[in-house]
Amino acid sequence: MRYDSITEAIGNTPLVRIAPDVHGLRHIDLYAKLEMLNPFGSLKDRAAWNMARPRLHGAQQSGATIVELSSGNTAKALALIAGMHGLPFKSVTNRMRIPEIKELLLLLGAEIEELPGQSECLDPTDTDDPLTLFHQQLSRPGGAHLHTDQYFNDLNTQAHATGTGPEIIADLDGRAPDWLIACVGTAGSSTGTARTLREHDPARPVSVVGLVGEKSDFIPGIRTIDEVQEVGIFDPGTYDAIESVSADEAIDGMLTLLRRCGILAGPTGGAAYYGAVRHLASVDAQTAADAVLAEGGAQGARGARGAEPERRTAVFIVCDRVESYLGYVRQRRPELLGRPPAKNSAASVTEAEIRGASVIGVAEAQKWIAEQRPLVIDLRGPFAYAALHIDGSVNIVDELFEELVRGGLPFGRRQPVLLACPVGEKSARYAALLTRMGHPDVRSLAGGIIAWRDAGAPLVRD
Ligand SMILES: Cc1ncc(COP(=O)(O)O)c(C=O)c1O
Repeated sequence: MRYDSITEAIGNTPLVRIAPDVHGLRHIDLYAKLEMLNPFGSLKDRAAWNMARPRLHGAQQSGATIVELSSGNTAKALALIAGMHGLPFKSVTNRMRIPEIKELLLLLGAEIEELPGQSECLDPTDTDDPLTLFHQQLSRPGGAHLHTDQYFNDLNTQAHATGTGPEIIADLDGRAPDWLIACVGTAGSSTGTARTLREHDPARPVSVVGLVGEKSDFIPGIRTIDEVQEVGIFDPGTYDAIESVSADEAIDGMLTLLRRCGILAGPTGGAAYYGAVRHLASVDAQTAADAVLAEGGAQGARGARGAEPERRTAVFIVCDRVESYLGYVRQRRPELLGRPPAKNSAASVTEAEIRGASVIGVAEAQKWIAEQRPLVIDLRGPFAYAALHIDGSVNIVDELFEELVRGGLPFGRRQPVLLACPVGEKSARYAALLTRMGHPDVRSLAGGIIAWRDAGAPLVRD
């Protein structure tokens, strides 16, 4: 294979069958679409190239900077494309949570601008999400920016409708699969691929399962069920089912692909595998039960065996590779990397423990602060904290707090503590964790800093 440019190597990724003794499905053939084998390392190569390509010449003429709201694979692909075309690239994001990707972007020459997200930033004089404002600013004509706009750009979806989808059909000998299972970030890959698979043979329905992260769980690259609604190209009508996967399940799925299938998948590939097998297992069991019934009926009628049920086919997408996520795995499952298991991790807190945590409303919190002077810890990012915070609070961003707590209680047991986060979910989880660790008086601010602001309670700015 000989190419004039690395971008010609984008697409035509392999479709690899997962051995039935690994997934255990008896009547369904399961295939992995290995988008991780795109040249820049992920399914985002297709979207990045499709969105940037038509405007590169113009950008070179005007000396524009390529800009995208991305902290991951889209940014990586665009940084490489920008470099190849002599253009600067700027990635705008709220908190970069995967340090390996941040460092890789810097190595590729990208500029990174980190902004707080909507639920984090609470400036009452400017209640709009800073990311949205930035987005609007960039979309105005005349700026020296090539804004690829992945969350709203139909060329993102189109890259998969014209590439990923037709490739799957060709590799399945001209048939669409019965199921497509894909993680949802911008929704471009699932929407575009689903569109082509469904149009291929409208008489044979393709069932599309979208996978998202569990509420307040973090799987890098995809959204949670709450966040996904905010994406412009997300259309709930695309999916027959939207199911959530926890970070632990994603890592379990990833381990199976790594250790049994020879596939160097990252966490979202693992989430897709895990979600696919979980979704298909009940269908498979039903097929087996129906086959037994049919066989009994056929034998009764003719004294002959019933026909084997028709084999069906499912495809899931492996989005990227594992190497960038070793820190993510170290944090959540250190035992997999030969380290002692994490005793005090927020992920290990159960729903029952969260329900048992002490949660107080704004008025009660104000009274408690005035009377008992608890240590108020604000778990939001530094930009959001700088914009507005509770007077006297200290800022320890949640990832750092997680690290601190892993080593044991980071303050004395006699020190009462009030935890605050954007909407009160993370703080309740940490309050439950600290309670489990033996702290006698840690409370979580119900509804978080948003509720505090909405109640008109005072906030100060640095
Ligand atoms: C690692 C990873 N997996 C899955 C996805 C989801 O893809 P899409 O944005 O097409 O929904 C992304 C998107 O950025 C990603 O980075």
